[in-house]
Amino acid sequence: MRALVTTPDTKFGLLLKEAPDPVPSADQVIIEVKNASLNHGDVAMAAGAAPGRVQGWDAAGVVVQAAADGTGPEVGARVVSFGPNGAWAEKRAVSVKELAVVPDSVDLAVASTLPVAGVTAARALHRSGDLAGKRVLITGASGGVGRYAIQIATQEGAHVVALARRGDGLAELGAKEVVADLDNVEPVDIVLENVGGPTLVRSWELLKTGGVLQSIGWTSMEPAVFQPYATVTDPKSLVAFQSGNHYASDLEYLLKLVADGKLKVDIGWRGSWTEFDEAAAALFGRQVSGKAVLDVD
Ligand SMILES: NC(=O)c1ccc[n+]([C@@H]2O[C@H](COP(=O)([O-])OP(=O)(O)OC[C@H]3O[C@@H](n4cnc5c(N)ncnc54)[C@H](OP(=O)(O)O)[C@@H]3O)[C@@H](O)[C@H]2O)c1
Repeated sequence: MRALVTTPDTKFGLLLKEAPDPVPSADQVIIEVKNASLNHGDVAMAAGAAPGRVQGWDAAGVVVQAAADGTGPEVGARVVSFGPNGAWAEKRAVSVKELAVVPDSVDLAVASTLPVAGVTAARALHRSGDLAGKRVLITGASGGVGRYAIQIATQEGAHVVALARRGDGLAELGAKEVVADLDNVEPVDIVLENVGGPTLVRSWELLKTGGVLQSIGWTSMEPAVFQPYATVTDPKSLVAFQSGNHYASDLEYLLKLVADGKLKVDIGWRGSWTEFDEAAAALFGRQVSGKAVLDVD
């Protein structure tokens, strides 16, 4: 098969070339990948990976070989999948615990945007308690995680404050306040924090007693410097977040929202996987509003 294989020789550490077909374990299907979406994390990790590997987390396609243990979808099923690697290839082996069947009404390119960004948004919110009536601050809100988080939190009754330099369209997704900095924001009950650095420090200051801050990401790559005693206050929580695995049921939940017209998918960049470097440059250059999607053509 062809795949984007890690190499030290290109800017973003990937080159489209021949690679061995994946060998499935008993609980894995093989899918023919049609679309893959990019995440801040998997693109960053590819650049530092050992050479010769097939990377990528999110892929949607068609099952061409069912799982040997008899579980999961049949050959021909349209599915979306998550894995720690293997998405940026013509074929992917993936566990049936990490995929869901895509409804006929949902395009595979749209479905490919859901795994890491969508499941992270859903899990971070659902680990933060009841959302109804809560003030929820989402930082990095114009990105992949942020746009799904705005919509899910709003649907569950939260008052969403969205922090983004590029705030276009975020009010239409449900955000009640769209801000470019945190200077005049009133205290909040929950934070989904994607930016790190000074944004993390300021978000912590804005968190009410009893509140919870989910530290999801660090797109700024800047250090966070807390003033002395900033964490010696009435109790509130700063939680280290990892989305984890076993995505199947969360993917079904997200696909149903999309199929029911309750979750809008913003694809800010779409093109052939031969243009991976262009997509990665746009993502890191803060030029992608929403998700970047590759056509595996
Ligand atoms: N812990 C986990 O399991 C998990 C899972 C998924 C993602 N993450 C992390 O969560 C973060 C968000 O992921 P994502 O996929 O939503 O990323 P993304 O699509 O690239 O969006 C990130 C957003 O952050 C904002 N931003 C602020 N400062 C930035 C900077 N210096 N460089 C780039 N963007 C900056 C940008 O919005 P503006 O330009 O509009 O300000 C951008 O839209 C990443 O750090 C990612 O690695 C963690």
